[in-house]
Amino acid sequence: MSTSAPSLLLSGEQLDRRLEELLQQKRFSPPAHFAATARGRGAAPDVLAESDQAAFWAEQARTLHWDTPFASVLDESNPPFYTWFADGTLNVSYNCLDRHVLAGHGDRVAFHWAGEEGEQRAITYAELLRDVQRFANALKRLGVGKGDIVGIYLPMIPEVVVAMLACARIGAPHNVVFGGFAPEAVKDRMKVSAAKVLVTADGGRRKGKTMPVKAAYDAAGELDSLEHIVVVRHVGIDVPMRPGRDVFYDEILAAADDVCPAHPMEAEHPLFILYSSGSTAKPKGIVHTTGGYLTGVSSTHKLVFDLDSERDVFWCTADVGWVTGHSYIVYGPLCNGATSVMFEGAPDYPHRGIWWELIERYGVTVFYTAPTAIRACMKWGAEEPNVHDLSTLRVLGSVGEPINPKAWLWYHVVVGRERCPIVDTWWQTETGQIMISPVPGHTETKPGSACQALPGVVADVVDEKTGESVVQGQGLLVLKRPWPAMLRTLYGEDERYVKTYWSRFGPETYVVGDAAIRDQDGSLWIVGRIDDVINVSGHRLSTAEVESVIMTHAKVAEAAVVAQSDASTGQAIVAFVILRGELEGTPELEAEIREHVARYIGKISRPKCIVWIDELPKTNSAKIMRRLLRDIMEGRPLGDVTTLSDPAAMADLARRVAAAQ
Ligand code: PRX
Repeated sequence: MSTSAPSLLLSGEQLDRRLEELLQQKRFSPPAHFAATARGRGAAPDVLAESDQAAFWAEQARTLHWDTPFASVLDESNPPFYTWFADGTLNVSYNCLDRHVLAGHGDRVAFHWAGEEGEQRAITYAELLRDVQRFANALKRLGVGKGDIVGIYLPMIPEVVVAMLACARIGAPHNVVFGGFAPEAVKDRMKVSAAKVLVTADGGRRKGKTMPVKAAYDAAGELDSLEHIVVVRHVGIDVPMRPGRDVFYDEILAAADDVCPAHPMEAEHPLFILYSSGSTAKPKGIVHTTGGYLTGVSSTHKLVFDLDSERDVFWCTADVGWVTGHSYIVYGPLCNGATSVMFEGAPDYPHRGIWWELIERYGVTVFYTAPTAIRACMKWGAEEPNVHDLSTLRVLGSVGEPINPKAWLWYHVVVGRERCPIVDTWWQTETGQIMISPVPGHTETKPGSACQALPGVVADVVDEKTGESVVQGQGLLVLKRPWPAMLRTLYGEDERYVKTYWSRFGPETYVVGDAAIRDQDGSLWIVGRIDDVINVSGHRLSTAEVESVIMTHAKVAEAAVVAQSDASTGQAIVAFVILRGELEGTPELEAEIREHVARYIGKISRPKCIVWIDELPKTNSAKIMRRLLRDIMEGRPLGDVTTLSDPAAMADLARRVAAAQ
């Protein structure tokens, strides 16, 4: 359906013209060469009757290895506490490793790992299985048993996968914390989950710089629950080790036995906790379980990426510390016996063409990244990808935030060379698995739309007051049927789980927290969050968490944090700050507060700019009117300010914002 024959390797004005031309096209049919053989060609995502959904997931679940086959599929007797396959038992690490080795695929590469400084390691399924068994034994010797929580705070190195699967093998739920989070934030997350062991590294590398990780963690203070810290020697720097508590990963691995049988776990046994930001300062410990989660991630990994484990080389550029890494670097691909790429570094180090170089080197066929990264690559120019052979690519994926049509088209033309279907995948930490996405080879795509719910998923757009379906137009995105990889609760906070997701329209409707538009064809367009969650570069951050950290700064009296649209990161954080006493806002103080946030949460939470103010706009009942702050930042007309306690203050505020930009 292209308006003219696609030409390859465009750049400069020619590329701009092609993008303009395609911008008019609006719809993209599955490429004929792809549709003929695609896995999804028989899948009609919208035709499953409600009664068939559970049966559909049961069929997917049966592709796994069960030690005890399940008879019960979905138990809906106590909504919203749903269970899946509850009377079955299985082991996730067995499904991800032993199964493939026993089938004769031990020599298949599980990960092509590329280090920042050009190091390369290929790790086969057999090698991974050996290390996982050893590390599982080592964890047992450290006193970790079924149900004990193990914290993991590691860079993007193969040991992170070993640690996760070793936990799964012995039924110890892991709590992985993104390597970019500050040690203080890690300590908090270890504390609330009462972690018994933390697996971390001597140090990390970022764009050529080395920084201590273990020592920084130590400096954040003691935790009673933490009995041991396991240290992976990654960058080779000196590490303070406390005798009796701290051990080196390589030493305990070398001392451990090679064989650790995979114990069957109940399907509902927790596999991991992953902390995610919510609308309060306290992060939510999202709990995922064994059987349903593995069913959801393995089946969507196959369908959405048209995966063929014999042929494909899959690369998801996320960090394992986020749910995308859990589901589509570790569990989905390994369960499917796929070969993946894992890259330690940033997309612009050692140079801005490194991603394309790696795609060419490993013959990547399926590439999955975030819109922010695509926008950065756009800025760096088509010349970078154009000098590489990207002809192996078949499917391109996007995740984490809405993708603007311009970025979608650039991805399509410059990276996909107009041959590869794009899957814009919508999901969340809570959903565990992709929920809304085109099926490549089946769905007609529209740049900017995540299209349709996948088979077995029932998504709806509803009126925010009545809960009635909005046939065409904007409303709240909800999920109306349970799905296997759904979160089961918030760790230790059942009530918060019910209140956050299931209270608005009753315990059978999961309220996502996003607004969406349904167009005339029924395609879904995700608009963004409706709560106080900010999405910076596809990373979910809580305004309340950033505010509460800013308020711990000695010179700050009050703060309010809002999102502002940003051309490269999607959204950016803006902080409105009232200083104590007679203090004046200065660039030095701005830098100090930004660093304060980086220190307590992580660099990604650092406000892009700080606006110094004397007063925050508040209602007569003293609630901060964030809507007004957002409107000011977006340059929108202010609308109704009559409920403000001091309407005149808004003009002054607008002046200060202009001065801060
Ligand atoms: O607002 C949606 C946005 O990211 C949120 C979930 O964030 P998190 O739990 O960190 O998981 C991110 C990766 C799965 C959603 O509520 N989001 C995610 N994917 C998309 C998206 N927004 C628009 N389009 C997407 N494809």
